Amino acid sequence: MAVSFKDLGLNTTKNMFSLAMKDKFAIPAYNFNNMEQLQAIINGCIESDSPVILQVSSGARKYANEILLRYMALGAMQMIKESGAKIPVALHLDHGDTFELCKSCVDSGFSSVMIDGSHHSYEENIRLTKQVVEYAHSKDVVVEGELGVLAGIEDEVEAEKSTYTRPEEVEDFVARTNVDSLAISIGTSHGAYKFKPGQPVPPLRFDILEEIEKRIAGFPIVLHGASSVLPNYINMINNYGGNLEGAVGVPEDQLRRAAKSAVCKINIDSDGRLVMTAMIRKILAEKPKEFDPRKYLGPAREALTEMIIRKNKEVLGSAGHGKEIMETEE
Ligand code: G3H
Ligand code: 13P
Ligand code: ZN
Repeated sequence: MAVSFKDLGLNTTKNMFSLAMKDKFAIPAYNFNNMEQLQAIINGCIESDSPVILQVSSGARKYANEILLRYMALGAMQMIKESGAKIPVALHLDHGDTFELCKSCVDSGFSSVMIDGSHHSYEENIRLTKQVVEYAHSKDVVVEGELGVLAGIEDEVEAEKSTYTRPEEVEDFVARTNVDSLAISIGTSHGAYKFKPGQPVPPLRFDILEEIEKRIAGFPIVLHGASSVLPNYINMINNYGGNLEGAVGVPEDQLRRAAKSAVCKINIDSDGRLVMTAMIRKILAEKPKEFDPRKYLGPAREALTEMIIRKNKEVLGSAGHGKEIMETEE
């Protein structure tokens, strides 16, 4: 039986993006695969009064079981409600690759889906995106499309080289597909190895972003591959038996600049993975007799919560806007 996001207390990204565009900040989209990540995201966003997009990839659905993952998100909604906190939460499919997957998420209570047709030809991307938009909009669910290819792994699809978004295509793509937001490629990539190690990090292509903003003024743009790969966690991982030599991410000042532009959604997954791994490695190395998962997953969850609060406050600027958006939802 189909379930609507409306019955689950979830929000779409419409009002989130309108305010983010007007007040020049970005909505955080954090991926989760397990209970500790979900708790950290929710607690960190309640604590910083931030709107949030909970992101589920098809890999996450396979890992945690799609039904369990959905009920975990619902449990989180109930937890927020009973705590008296008021922050808007969207449940979003990250990198959907088929119409069937997007439809299954719309029918099971997601309030937002991404159809990533960026690996297809331009015309096939339009056809697929339009098909998803027509179905999703009939249920009031919003859709994110993608133009341009990010290097790195996108949920089992690996692209060696990125292809920047072509500004001359965006107007036509948005008009013909009727998507609600557009992911673009301006030099970010997925994972922990975004740029060449030991060399200056090449700045993101803000010139391409500005050209896109001119052509589709006021339209919400999405930035994938936006982890900063924080050096203190990379050092911690390497010092406690790991090997992530050469890992490098997007500098936070560039993300701050992006958040002030038409970029309304910033996707962060790798940074959360790195924080948890660093804490778990440290605890297990320092306490070799420890075997209660709560004793290492708990501190890892706390460190992730702190990271989320800091990102919302200092990088995305979404902190302090949760209640404000909720008032426009009611
Ligand atoms: O963009 C990809 C996300 O980081 C999700 O990664 O497919 O390994 O769950 P995943
Ligand atoms: P990172 O690998 O930079 O965290 O990117 C995540 C992402 O784009 C999820 O869609
Ligand atoms: Zn992505």
